[in-house]
Amino acid sequence: MIINGKEIAKKLRSSIAKQVAKLDRKPGLAVILVGDDPASAVYVRNKDNACKEVGFYSEKINKSANITQTELLSEVERLNKDDKIDGILVQLPLPSHLDANQVIEAINPNKDVDGFHSENIGKLMQNKAYLRPCTPKGVMTMLATTGIDLVGKNCVVVGASNIVGRPMAMELLNARATVTICNSKTQDLSGKLKQADVIVAAVGIPKMIQGDWIKAGVIIIDVGINRLDDGTLVGDVDFDAVQDKAAWITPVPGGVGPMTIATLLENTLTAYTAREEK
Ligand code: GUN
Repeated sequence: MIINGKEIAKKLRSSIAKQVAKLDRKPGLAVILVGDDPASAVYVRNKDNACKEVGFYSEKINKSANITQTELLSEVERLNKDDKIDGILVQLPLPSHLDANQVIEAINPNKDVDGFHSENIGKLMQNKAYLRPCTPKGVMTMLATTGIDLVGKNCVVVGASNIVGRPMAMELLNARATVTICNSKTQDLSGKLKQADVIVAAVGIPKMIQGDWIKAGVIIIDVGINRLDDGTLVGDVDFDAVQDKAAWITPVPGGVGPMTIATLLENTLTAYTAREEK
């Protein structure tokens, strides 16, 4: 069966839109894009459109690729102080002359709707999560729709990035699963995947996970978005090879991608509510 991220995200957006319609002030999200990387520009445009759809106030801030670290930090500082803004997102990756970590740490943790600030990551590690990274949180929402109880399940996360792999592993651990974190250098990866009840693939290697690497009945979440030379988008999992064996699988595109953006809106509403209650 397919876990239809596009549909689940649509429902989430419509629930958010209903809540926003009742509010006096609109929740505000600012997205900073540095440079003109085409893939990042698409993501930022999609985020902006999603904000409009649910009735958020949205600011799309485009900065030149040669912005200095100081200029970028002062932009973040301006948004930290802006009362219309509840959430701040700096699209990653940043050009190599910029220090992304310092920029993330400059965001007010209460406006850190990406959940990347060390304070929010720390809370996730302590199982006291507040603002949670969007892709892993969106994956948890998707897993919940299958009705499968994660307690005690063998979950294998392939990829150990700060954006997906690491927080994903923590989310699964917080759900009391047994978690194995692998990366592109893991020895006998297929042996580890064979043990898995749930696989989350986030390595960025097109169609890496093969049909004979998995056991029947596994749930596969494919976070990979890889563009092949012919322009087609594929995940980290060889979808055609695994789909008859897997119990549940997410497609690419139309799987995790839309959930990341819907979860960003959810986080912005959370940050808004917390600010309003102060
Ligand atoms: N680049 C790829 N994924 C993300 C994300 O979730 N947030 C930000 N800020 N940048 C990204």
